[in-house]
Amino acid sequence: MARLNDHYLKLKAGYLFPEIGRRVKAFCEDNPDTAGNLIRCGIGDVTEPLPAAAREAMKSAVDELGKKESFRGYGPEQGYDFLRAAIAEGDYRERGIEVDDDEIFVSDGSKCDTGNILDIFGAGNRIAITDPVYPVYVDTNVMAGNTGDADESGAYAGIHYMPCTAENNFVPEIPSGKVDLIYLCYPNNPTGATATGEQLTAWVEYARANDAIILYDAAYQAFIQDDSIPRSIYQVEGARQCAIEFRSFSKNGGFTGVRCAFTVVPKELLAEDATGQKQSLHPLWSRRQSTKFNSVSYPVQRAAEALYSEAGKEQVSQLINHYMGNAGLLRDACAEIGLSVHGGENAPYVWVACPAGIDSWGMFDRMLNEAKVVITPGAGFGSAGEGFFRISAFNSRENVEEVCRRLKDTL
Ligand code: MLT
Repeated sequence: MARLNDHYLKLKAGYLFPEIGRRVKAFCEDNPDTAGNLIRCGIGDVTEPLPAAAREAMKSAVDELGKKESFRGYGPEQGYDFLRAAIAEGDYRERGIEVDDDEIFVSDGSKCDTGNILDIFGAGNRIAITDPVYPVYVDTNVMAGNTGDADESGAYAGIHYMPCTAENNFVPEIPSGKVDLIYLCYPNNPTGATATGEQLTAWVEYARANDAIILYDAAYQAFIQDDSIPRSIYQVEGARQCAIEFRSFSKNGGFTGVRCAFTVVPKELLAEDATGQKQSLHPLWSRRQSTKFNSVSYPVQRAAEALYSEAGKEQVSQLINHYMGNAGLLRDACAEIGLSVHGGENAPYVWVACPAGIDSWGMFDRMLNEAKVVITPGAGFGSAGEGFFRISAFNSRENVEEVCRRLKDTL
């Protein structure tokens, strides 16, 4: 009989967002009259229309594909040169950060890339992951066999968990021992926290001193309002030698359904082979993508490129202002009712301490049943998330104003 991947059997329950979806579906079936009144602030999914610049570029790309002389079939697996160049220039070199066009690998999402990246790392790496955390980092390590079983709290043997609490401003302490792969996400999902240049410098110094690699998820960098906060790990000296950066057009360009993202793998980034020789990871990732991926469709890559045009930049900035305006309203509403509020200032997530006497799934149920608002329970992101809930600012202004009213009426 065919043998399955036993590591999948270690995974705890469902992936967080499908589990929330399951509970919401059950609620809607049991309460058909109120289902239409439900406001979803759970998963961070964009609600506002695609920027006009992206739509126009996509339409003309589709027209090109409709003519024999400009039709295109398979594109380069690493992404078209026009998009790699627009990204390297617009997101990095224009900001004084050294990144070559061919260090950009276009993909269909950071969720996929942060999981797939494990293909180029061997067995036996010590993995450091923040708690709370975007669940994909943990689950993909479980699937890859990098962990043992989970205990009753949901923590997997073999993962070095780094607690992020209000006391450390949701930026973990540097480990006292040696780890090999470190997942960091700033602006952070789920806490909305940011890391300063000084904090990131300490991580880069640790990584370089310990031959570790930082997997830096910067999917929410566009939401940074305070210019003193780094948008890229490569703003820190030495990061090209120790970090891979993941970015996405999902949240800034409204591409959650369109799908386009990219990963930066600097050529000087090295890891050890079985004989102890240091080898560059760049060709390995390129090879991995060539073998398992055919990149993103031509119209989508043209749409992503258009986000770097003058009009595109202006439209992205309007989207960011809209969602950050929502975040400000949600923060104020929670503070007004006396809840302790974090995040939401440089990130589209507001991280709120539950009122006394209620845990985070209890809060989820209360918000669903009484306020008819879907939030995300902090415990779903890890045991250090217990006692918190996350509200996503991705919604219409009208819905967010209504959520603020309902929060005040319910709590
Ligand atoms: C979230 O809500 O945490 C995100 O939308 C998940 C994702 O980007 O995959």
